[in-house]
Amino acid sequence: MKAKLVVLSGAGISAESGIRTFRDSDGLWENYRVEDVASIDGWYRDPEMMTRFYNERRAQLEHCQPNAAHVILADLEVFFNVVIITQNVDNLHERAGSKQVIHLHGELTKACSEHGKKQVHDIGYRAMKYGERGADGALLRPFIVWFGEDVPMLAVAIEEMQTADHVLIIGTSLNVYPAASLYHYAPKHAQLWMIDPNDTQPVQRPITHIRAKATEGMKQWKNLVLPDNL
Ligand code: APR
Repeated sequence: MKAKLVVLSGAGISAESGIRTFRDSDGLWENYRVEDVASIDGWYRDPEMMTRFYNERRAQLEHCQPNAAHVILADLEVFFNVVIITQNVDNLHERAGSKQVIHLHGELTKACSEHGKKQVHDIGYRAMKYGERGADGALLRPFIVWFGEDVPMLAVAIEEMQTADHVLIIGTSLNVYPAASLYHYAPKHAQLWMIDPNDTQPVQRPITHIRAKATEGMKQWKNLVLPDNL
């Protein structure tokens, strides 16, 4: 049986694809304060601005490509049972070919009712029009988990973590909970790895930190973990 590799990815893995991280530029995300455009309060304060903001992110995503880090993770499925838990709302893991991707914070290419996330619509890369309504008559909103909201995929992510042999944390500052505490659910025997060019919030377990950008770090990780010539 293949060993299980559970990956926790964050904005840093998509940085080399041209998508900005959240906390590398003074708390501004594409010139907006993260709290303004990533909170449920922000939606109720100014849904029109939020609709426009996520339209811009979606349009940008259409022109971004997965980078070597996404591709290596997809290729690793030959050797490992790979489960990716991502905080990213882009679809670059899927486009690289990863088959098991859990989106903790939602997906840019989807919309849902502002009254609940039960009915989710695929909208691809199209712009949402402010005022569009779903089948329940309520406003449609981006299918994003904002600050102040539940994380519906958390239970599934915990379950996957509980059977990990390797946990690889890549491109996340570990500032945002509950994602940042997921690694605590990994079994004792699991080996923990981190790929990040910078320091992150401290990890309370032994961990090997590869200080490199995602693409270079993934190459190094593969060489460390896989036997020669694979
Ligand atoms: N390769 C790998 N890591 C990188 C790279 C790179 N090329 N460039 C930057 N990083 C690292 C940074 O050093 C930092 O540790 O990526 C991390 C990005 O951290 P954040 O910007 O805080 O992003 P993330 O941890 O994904 O944010 C979590 O916060 O705003 C919310 O919901 C949003 O999902 C998001 C969550």
